[in-house]
Amino acid sequence: MSSFDARAQEWDKNQRRRETAQKIASAIKECLPKSRYDILDFGCGTGLVSFELADIAKSIMGIDTSAKMVEQFNKKSGSPNTKAYQTSLEELSDTFDLIVSSMTFHHIKDIEALIKELAAKLRPQGFICIADLVREDGSFHSDSTGVYHFGFDPGRLIQSFEKHGFILQSSKIVHTIQKHKAFDIFLLCFQKKP
Ligand SMILES: C[S@@+](CC[C@H](N)C(=O)[O-])C[C@H]1O[C@@H](n2cnc3c(N)ncnc32)[C@H](O)[C@@H]1O
Repeated sequence: MSSFDARAQEWDKNQRRRETAQKIASAIKECLPKSRYDILDFGCGTGLVSFELADIAKSIMGIDTSAKMVEQFNKKSGSPNTKAYQTSLEELSDTFDLIVSSMTFHHIKDIEALIKELAAKLRPQGFICIADLVREDGSFHSDSTGVYHFGFDPGRLIQSFEKHGFILQSSKIVHTIQKHKAFDIFLLCFQKKP
């Protein structure tokens, strides 16, 4: 059982997580053209961000490695158009016009490979919005098992996305999580070149 499986049932009880997801979701909506999107939420967890995007969604698919997170997501969904799966990007045959990912990139070892896989799932001129920690000193997680990056330098991440055919739409600090100290959260929005 992964540490996320063990925490899935209690995940949404944490006010700090709910507030972070709300801030990220409203910043995502601000950076996108008004439309309705087929959305993929990569590392969806219990859907804290996904469900906040319902008003801009035609459909929402969440994917996550944690079976228990996926279970919680699907318990909360009242619509067949909003569903989560325990699967990987490679196994996915669908494509999307918006991909979002919140607080998941720091759990992925090979970011270059991930960006390439995400690009393959995005339709031409589709959007991708990534939110995560700005580079930190490693103290954000009390247990760093499964944490491959102590946050990111947004400038370096922008370069990686641009290398894979994305055009930066906006780069912002959208929230600051207060723990024993302050941790900034960035949101990067890109559009895929036609
Ligand atoms: C910190 S949680 C964030 C959950 C959600 N996005 C949110 O903002 O509330 C990170 C999530 O990424 C998932 N995850 C970790 N590695 C993953 C991978 N390789 N592919 C998909 N999901 C992954 C975990 O199971 C967990 O649900």
